[in-house]
Amino acid sequence: MAFKITLIPGDGIGPEVTGATCKILEAAGADVEWDTVLAGAQAAEELGNPMPNAVLDSIRRNRVGLKGPLATPKGKGYRSANVTLRQKLKLYTGWRPVNSLPGVASRYEDVDVVVLRENTQGLYSGIEHEVTPGTIVSLKVSSDHAAERIARWAFDYACNAGRRKITVCHKKSVLPRADGAFTDAFFEVGREYPFIEQEEMSLDDLAMGLTKDPSGFDVMLLQNLYGDIISDLCAGLVGGLGVVPGANVGDRIAVFEAVHGTAPDIAGQGIANPLAVLLSGCLMMDYVGERAVAARVRQAVAGVLTKGETLTGYLGGSADTAAFTQAIINQL
Ligand code: NAI
Repeated sequence: MAFKITLIPGDGIGPEVTGATCKILEAAGADVEWDTVLAGAQAAEELGNPMPNAVLDSIRRNRVGLKGPLATPKGKGYRSANVTLRQKLKLYTGWRPVNSLPGVASRYEDVDVVVLRENTQGLYSGIEHEVTPGTIVSLKVSSDHAAERIARWAFDYACNAGRRKITVCHKKSVLPRADGAFTDAFFEVGREYPFIEQEEMSLDDLAMGLTKDPSGFDVMLLQNLYGDIISDLCAGLVGGLGVVPGANVGDRIAVFEAVHGTAPDIAGQGIANPLAVLLSGCLMMDYVGERAVAARVRQAVAGVLTKGETLTGYLGGSADTAAFTQAIINQL
């Protein structure tokens, strides 16, 4: 059966890395009919909106999307297209599995952690005002509903993915109400999942613990800003944003994406590293039930990385995007 999947090639290196990903997934046997739509800077230029309704409608219809990075035009009054996408489609979970890859230089081996980030609330509410001249208040929004919703997602995910422990992270010492409620909701929902180990940790302890020794961590659940920072910290443990996949997921709807940006400094040169989007494509194949396709691609990637002969500049080699893509297809 062919899957219909929304494809947002994105800005900058987006079309290069999503193009490579589609080619590899198809070579691995994925039967996908791509519904290609325009978002980001080009959509803002041509259609006057970086996240047109046609994009949201396509994802609502297909339920699954693959997205390249999007540039938000600065100084033109546009809200981040990524934030709009998450909020309009209620993609409340930022899902970032972080794993060591063979042949990719990094500080630790065998890192295997998952960062789950509440995507819709917290300090990303975008509500700020000047109460008196020179004093700004930025609102951190936290609702019990959102806290319970993502706690349940986290526990269901842990069960389905065979994970053993979830660490909920907070800054209760300075934000006892908002962070206290988020933590309480986690433990309340957790009563229904006694077989999953549950712990809480303050944000600073978590940051230090992860950098000292990530092996004691499994799944981490965090509010929006904390999750944004800790997910990039975890990416840094295994080689950076160019080698980790990501997705934004809601109830029966998911958009898989590059976690890096549009890399304007190298866009159009054909040298971008497509691995982050490719691994996001593998997560997507897992999500739609095509686990064999995902496994084949991951195995081929591991083969190419281990050989180390055809690597992009980002990975320490000198191959361009096309050669790296072809090496993975040959390995398949
Ligand atoms: P960036 O991630 O685009 O670039 C940072 C550095 O990493 C650059 O030197 C770039 O060449 C390199 N890089 C990133 N991805 C690479 C890849 N796949 N292969 C090889 N090198 C790679 O971050 P920056 O410069 O802060 O942001 C540029 C634009 O991207 C901005 O407009 C920003 O808003 C947007 N952005 C979009 C995101 C998304 O759509 N999820 C996430 C982050 C930034």
